Amino acid sequence: MNFNLSEEHEMIRKMVRDFAENEVGPTAAERDEEERFDMELFEKMAELGLTGIPWPEEYGGIGSDYLAYVIAVEELSRVCASIGVTLSAHTSLAGWPVYKFGTEEQKQKYLRPMAEGTKIGAYGLTEPASGSDAGAMRATAKLDGDEYVLNGSKIFITNGGIADIYIVFAVTDQSGKRPETTAFIIEKDFPGFSVGKKEKKLGIRSSPTTEIMFENCRVPKENMLGELGEGFKIAMQTLDGGRNGIAAQAVGIAQGALDASVEYAKEREQFGKPIAANQGIGFKLADMATATEASRLLTYKAAWLESHNQPYGKASAMAKLMAGDTAMKVTTEAVQVFGGYGYTKDYPVERFMRDAKITQIYEGTQEIQRLVISRMLTK
Ligand code: CAA
Repeated sequence: MNFNLSEEHEMIRKMVRDFAENEVGPTAAERDEEERFDMELFEKMAELGLTGIPWPEEYGGIGSDYLAYVIAVEELSRVCASIGVTLSAHTSLAGWPVYKFGTEEQKQKYLRPMAEGTKIGAYGLTEPASGSDAGAMRATAKLDGDEYVLNGSKIFITNGGIADIYIVFAVTDQSGKRPETTAFIIEKDFPGFSVGKKEKKLGIRSSPTTEIMFENCRVPKENMLGELGEGFKIAMQTLDGGRNGIAAQAVGIAQGALDASVEYAKEREQFGKPIAANQGIGFKLADMATATEASRLLTYKAAWLESHNQPYGKASAMAKLMAGDTAMKVTTEAVQVFGGYGYTKDYPVERFMRDAKITQIYEGTQEIQRLVISRMLTK
């Protein structure tokens, strides 16, 4: 048992922190206000190798592991949760299923450019009538000659509109008790594919979230990902790891809010002393720090398990459950520490609080995490 990060992990943390503080943080509030995704930031992340952290060099990655990846998402989210989820969805939800289930050809064609950051990835599972009940999707894919023809729509797509490659799931056989679903790799230029409405959101406002539509969208047969009928399992296994990326995002948000609160509580004076000297504030900071650290440990453990080829689905769901709730609580307390100033856009804590909320919702609500964990405990 060793809780020290390796030299490689420390180096990645330092590199991402420098990048986050110097290049991402300064424009975070403005991008949030303008709901603006900054492609240049993504390109800089690519130059630093952040877009392909866990993938082997033969697929354009830097050959590191899932721990390094969650550290990167955490550090980015510490200053800007939007850029954190851009990287998380790109890596866990789009890169991972291609790495795990793709053919050699698919890996060279799709994983490599995603790892190198010349293309952005996204994942489409949710539909208007199929959220928590992911298996109830209605989008269909029918074989016609050498192509599948997709119809339907997917909503709440992180990286929607900025992505070049979408991993999507559609029903390929309705005849059984349960619809049989299959995964596909969709290029943004495939005929019949289009990007719909962009959501206006409470938080993570500089990460675009859109609808995507398929109207007789023709997809070459060779773009089927994994086996016919294995779509639901691929979607679920993808989320097993993806949830830990969201846990890392939540840890980063909580840490950002905690750091800002500690600094403010030491400087802000009332009744002739820094407010940190009051136990009412000091104890808040202690609870915020403790919950953040506990969430981080769960997140790192889940990443470590995945990196060591051990089962990680339950650990990942636990990390997301714990870290999402922590991010919400810590950011709410941060606004309280800042008082009236915390409620304004002069300080980042109101943004952190708005950003935290989604970590309790996406990649499976907290209620779904409890369902996943309890099923694993009792199966
Ligand atoms: N790995 C492998 N297989 C799995 C699995 C997993 N993690 N989870 C389920 N399966 C398999 C089951 O073993 C079962 O297989 P068999 O039929 O062979 O027995 C099959 O899949 C069906 O499983 P369930 O009966 O458990 O399925 P269910 O309908 O009860 O649903 C659920 C399970 C966990 C509730 C699932 O629907 C779910 O995770 N819902 C939440 C969806 C979600 O997280 N959406 C997030 C969207 S993405 C997003 O948010 C991205 C973003 O913006 C960043």
